[in-house]
This record gives sequence, C-alpha cells and structure tokens, in this order.
Amino acid sequence: MNSHPSGRLGDMSGRTAVVSGASSGIGLAILRRFLEAGATVHGLARRDRLIEEQARDAAPEADRLHHHSVDVGDPEAVRDWARRFSGPVDTLVCAAGTNIPERRLAQLTPPVWDSMLATNLSGTFYLLHALLPRLREARGDVVVLSSVAGAWPDHTGPAYQAAKAGLLGLARGAGMDEYGNGIRVCTILPGIVNTPILDDRPEPPPQELRDLFVQPQDIAEACLAAITLPKRACIAEMTVVATALQSMGNTQAATPAPPREPRSAVRPGTP
Ligand SMILES: NC(=O)c1ccc[n+]([C@@H]2O[C@H](COP(=O)([O-])OP(=O)(O)OC[C@H]3O[C@@H](n4cnc5c(N)ncnc54)[C@H](OP(=O)(O)O)[C@@H]3O)[C@@H](O)[C@H]2O)c1
Repeated sequence: MNSHPSGRLGDMSGRTAVVSGASSGIGLAILRRFLEAGATVHGLARRDRLIEEQARDAAPEADRLHHHSVDVGDPEAVRDWARRFSGPVDTLVCAAGTNIPERRLAQLTPPVWDSMLATNLSGTFYLLHALLPRLREARGDVVVLSSVAGAWPDHTGPAYQAAKAGLLGLARGAGMDEYGNGIRVCTILPGIVNTPILDDRPEPPPQELRDLFVQPQDIAEACLAAITLPKRACIAEMTVVATALQSMGNTQAATPAPPREPRSAVRPGTP
C-alpha cells in the first residue's frame, strides 16, 4: 500500500491518521491541519470530548473526525484501545506530553519520575508498538514530538529532558529498524511554542512575549510537510525555534529575552 496516494505536498486525501495529544496545543493544531488537508483523523487524549468541541468545524463530514479517550502512559489502556480500533493507519503522530511545576531535581520523587517517563516517553513506544503492523501494511509515516530540551540543557527539568532525549533515541532506533519496511520516522524538536503546557511552568511566560513564540499551527505545517514529502525522501529530524527569540542550541532561557531594537530602528547619532 502507498501511504501517500496523491503524492502532492500538503494533500492528505485518502489517508488515515492517529494523533495523540489531540485535545490541546500542538496535537490539536496537527489534527485540525490534517482534517483540512483531507485526511480521516483519530484524535487521542484523556479529555477526548475537547477534540470534538475544538475541531468539528474543520471536518464538516461526520465520518472524518473521530476521538478516543486513552491515557497513553497506561500500556494496557493503549493495547486495549488498539485491539478495539479497526481500520488502517498510515500516519501516527505522537504529541501527547506533559510537564509539572515542581520539576527541579530535588523536587522529583520516584513516582513522579515514573509518571513523567510514562506519559512523555513510554506512551510513544506503546502507541508505535501497538500500531506497527498497520503502519507496516501502509508503509506509513510516524512523527514524534520531542523537544529541544532533549538535545540541549535547559530549565524544563531532568524528568522532562530525559523523556525528550529518550524519544530521540526511540525514533532513531525505530527509523533504523523500520525503514526497510517503508516506514518514515520524523522527530520534531520544537523550541518554545505558545500552548497551555507553558501554564504549568513555575513562572509562566508573559502574554506579550507569547506572540513571538512558535505557534502550534507552525508545527502543524512542518508536520504536514514532512509526511507529504515524496516518499523517496525522509525528513528524519527537524528543529523548529522562534525566529526572534531562539536559535539552534540557544534555547536555554526558560523565558527568552525579547528581541533588541532592530539596527534600522536606531536613530543616527544614538550611541
Ligand atoms: N509547548 C512547547 O513549548 C513545547 C516545546 C517542545 C515540545 N513540546 C511537546 O509538544 C507536545 C505537545 O505539547 P503542547 O505544548 O501542545 O501541550 P498541551 O497544550 O498541554 O497539550 C498536551 C496534550 O497531551 C495530552 N496528554 C497529556 N498527558 C496525556 C496522557 N497521559 N494520555 C493522553 N494524552 C495526554 C493532553 O490531553 P489530555 O490532558 O486531554 O489527556 C493534550 O492534548 C508535547 O509532547 C510537548 O512535550 C512542547
């Protein structure tokens, strides 16, 4: 089976996607963008009713948007859902993720560590593993939402960073094991993105700065481009940062400093 029947960049007609973390932020933006691009989309989240509420307008036909209540950090719940779920899957996006205000090393406890790793790392493995036969059948696409926190040190906390670095390893290993079966694996490493996850920071960033952050729709466009690129090419990893605030490897500041006045705005004679 060809997972990208039309072969046109940005066109998902005829495709069926599963998107985790689809009730909010990046996952919701990806689910909406996939619907606009013509796909049938199954959104997963614990608060799955939010998916219906927030995305129904993007899919006027009732049979293209489906929502499922699944806790991705629970292996039995994922396995049971995958058993009940019928039909093909040619695209899997793993965007479910979380962080906690008490994220410093000294504040973490073993149960909190386990829970952070379950949602942010193991959940992606559980989904990928459960859907692998169908992804193989479709010679499909997998997109993993890691983070720049998995590539460079920052203030997101050791549990979050360990999980996001683990996702890079999982995606690289899965790509190595499955490219021969026609599966493309793409890891997206976003910098700071304006979503509700930022509200769980010990000090949430100010609203005026959030307009300069990457927006969830930007990640959705990047994701769509990766999975509708001609199948002969695979974007294995992409880092997406806020142009005005961050750059590759320069993502350490929890709240990046606002940009300085552009040079052209400095009046002649000003020291
Ligand atoms: N925003 C950023 O700056 C940023 C930067 C880099 C990477 N990321 C990553 O991008 C992904 C999306 O985050 P976001 O910023 O869009 O955050 P968000 O708005 O808080 O959305 C998180 C999503 O994950 C779902 N989720 C959380 N725990 C879950 C669980 N146990 N089972 C199932 N679903 C669960 C939530 O749904 P329910 O609560 O309804 O279950 C929600 O849909 C995450 O992996 C995050 O780590 C975000």
